[in-house]
Amino acid sequence: MTTREILVTSALPYANGPIHLGHMLEHIQSDIWVRAMRMAGHSVHYVCADDAHGSAIMLRAEKEGITPQALIDGVWKEHSSALRDFGVAYDHYSSTHTDANRELTARIWLALRAAGHTESKPVKQLYDPVKEMFLPDRYIKGECPKCHSKDQYGDGCEVCGTAYTPADLINPYSVVSGATPVLRESEHYFVKLADFEAMLKGWLAQRRDAGALQAEVVNKLQEWFADGLRSWDVSRDAPYFGFEIPDAPGKYFYVWVDAPIGYFAAFKELCDSGRSGLKPADLERFIRADSKTDMVHFIGKDIVYFHTLFWPAMLHGAGLRTPTAVNVHGFLTVNGAKMSKSRGTFIQARTYLNHLDPDWLRYYLASLLGPTLADVDLDMKAFEERVNSHLVGKWVNIASRCAGFVHKFFGGKLSAQLPAEASASYADAAKRLSACAALYEARDYAAALRLIMDVADTANAYVADKAPWKMAKDDGQREHLHVVCTLALNYFRLLTIWLAPVVPSIAARAFAFLGEAPPRFEAANTPRLGATLNEFSALTTRIDPLKIEAMIEASKENLQAATPSPQPLPREGGGAKAAASTSPPAGRANRSEAMGSTSPLVGEVAARSVAGEGSFISIDDFARMDLRIGTVLECGFVEGSDKLLRFVLDAGELGRRQIFSGIRAAYAEPEKLIGRKVVFIANLAPRKMRFGVSEGMILSAGSGGDDLHLLDADAGAKAGMPVK
Ligand code: MSP
Ligand code: ZN
Repeated sequence: MTTREILVTSALPYANGPIHLGHMLEHIQSDIWVRAMRMAGHSVHYVCADDAHGSAIMLRAEKEGITPQALIDGVWKEHSSALRDFGVAYDHYSSTHTDANRELTARIWLALRAAGHTESKPVKQLYDPVKEMFLPDRYIKGECPKCHSKDQYGDGCEVCGTAYTPADLINPYSVVSGATPVLRESEHYFVKLADFEAMLKGWLAQRRDAGALQAEVVNKLQEWFADGLRSWDVSRDAPYFGFEIPDAPGKYFYVWVDAPIGYFAAFKELCDSGRSGLKPADLERFIRADSKTDMVHFIGKDIVYFHTLFWPAMLHGAGLRTPTAVNVHGFLTVNGAKMSKSRGTFIQARTYLNHLDPDWLRYYLASLLGPTLADVDLDMKAFEERVNSHLVGKWVNIASRCAGFVHKFFGGKLSAQLPAEASASYADAAKRLSACAALYEARDYAAALRLIMDVADTANAYVADKAPWKMAKDDGQREHLHVVCTLALNYFRLLTIWLAPVVPSIAARAFAFLGEAPPRFEAANTPRLGATLNEFSALTTRIDPLKIEAMIEASKENLQAATPSPQPLPREGGGAKAAASTSPPAGRANRSEAMGSTSPLVGEVAARSVAGEGSFISIDDFARMDLRIGTVLECGFVEGSDKLLRFVLDAGELGRRQIFSGIRAAYAEPEKLIGRKVVFIANLAPRKMRFGVSEGMILSAGSGGDDLHLLDADAGAKAGMPVK
């Protein structure tokens, strides 16, 4: 085997929110890969960092009355500890707001400029005259020009799925100040992507043919070349939290410029620290154009353009190496749907850790992860069943059934030899599992784990057949019992070696029991004989379903604690990820074109009509409805309508809601309704009516006309409570 030197990264999480289980899918995927490559004998450096720049961070810090530095420092502590506690073993976890990154960003920019790959020109963009700042698309809201839903983001409508630009919005307003934005011109800096068209085409094809880029990724990217690559707008005007562009006072690098350079910066800090056997000079050895080392990125499908077009173009233009591979994964869904705060399925990494063992999630997600862009579903029932049946039932049980006998009868020692038949059985199992090395490398963890569980079945069948607990009753069978336990525990060790990248903590406890340091894959070829075992203690337990429930409940509480303002600030780039927000390089960069992520609504509508074909709905269909208690604050007639009453509800954490309800004929004295509680649908798309916007629907029983009766709730129900 030739030993490779590999720098591995995961995408840098925004320092703008907590690490959640969606992020964990990626960190777990890359961490398993790193551990597997190390166990195969490669030299791997594994880095990540917080993505600390952008308008969102600046505005959030301002809102909290702290400096951006204080904000990102606090978030860094939370992020890095959550990742560590999940067993994700970065050699270095940094931030993009560091001197190392400032230097490297300036260096790459100046190299691009010197080579003539940059330009500047005036750009017209919406400006908030009150806050005195240019507004990213996500900070402008207004009415959808197509379906007239209110409060839609500037880059597309979440109700009807239409993509547009902020200028298309009806009655636009700034999310920051509420002011009406005005168009203003300012000078922007660009990277001339057209210079790299031929280079990128060649690079993509070469990487695809080498199996270093997924074909579905390359196919999608090729569409971008159709109308030529437009220049990429890489500057933002002050006020902005980021790095100022050299020789351009008041102009800052757009967060997506210095974010990927943050991979290098994190690695530079690792080299400078002298840890991991690295020294400062290693940085250049890794990043120069003719480097013999590999650089492998793990990312989600929403940020493909940044990593496979802009990033390689910048690197090549600056005379540096390009990525060896970009591994793209799909999105995590929970119980078959997008993670949702109201359903308690927007689960933070820390909330999970407060209730459940990280290796359980690592195992479950790995059992579904392949080398494709397919989404991965965390189905709580399947999670519980698979962990209990595979990890406890098939793997750990082998050891717990045999360890006691080795201690009781053989002084804790494995037998020094195996008879030929047992040796052959072990060799056969070891040979079957040797295929896992290639499966791990190809990121086909699901296939690796299937193979491992097949061999676990063989091992369990052996134990069941020999029934050591029966043998133990017969003094005449001691020697045979020793062989059976030794082979069974070697099966256990074999499985542990191949499971170690996936469940490192449980495996570490297993190796402690086996009395050996965590070995490399090659150690699996030879059984461990004559060794003394340590005391066996439970390596892991079955999942208690109550803990899953508690985690979901706690995630709902998180929501209440974490929603201080009625208008939570959007994430910088979170919506406009497919490209720079103001001037997409190929003029077709918007959210709904981000790879694979068409409007979330398309999926929901499709799911709904399928469910509608039968007479039953699933619990998920019901869960989609956000039913809430509202307290009537105002209620009155609507001028010009003989059917409607206008309500204003106190909706608790959701704020106030105006709702028009067609129940006038049933309630002649609307003011009498003030103060009572009603049940309403809180997530119905807002509807613009002649009299104003209706933001939900109040439920009532009856056949219509004056036969309509509002629902009531018992005294304990409070405004904003979900109805389930
Ligand atoms: N800051 C940028 C990345 C810069 S890399 C130079 C960013 N941050 S993010 O926090 O929004 O996302 C970080 C990574 O997490 C991305 O790869 C993204 O695809 C991934 N995920 C975020 N939510 C996810 C799921 N629900 N499921 C799977 N991955 C998800 O983008
Ligand atoms: Zn719309």
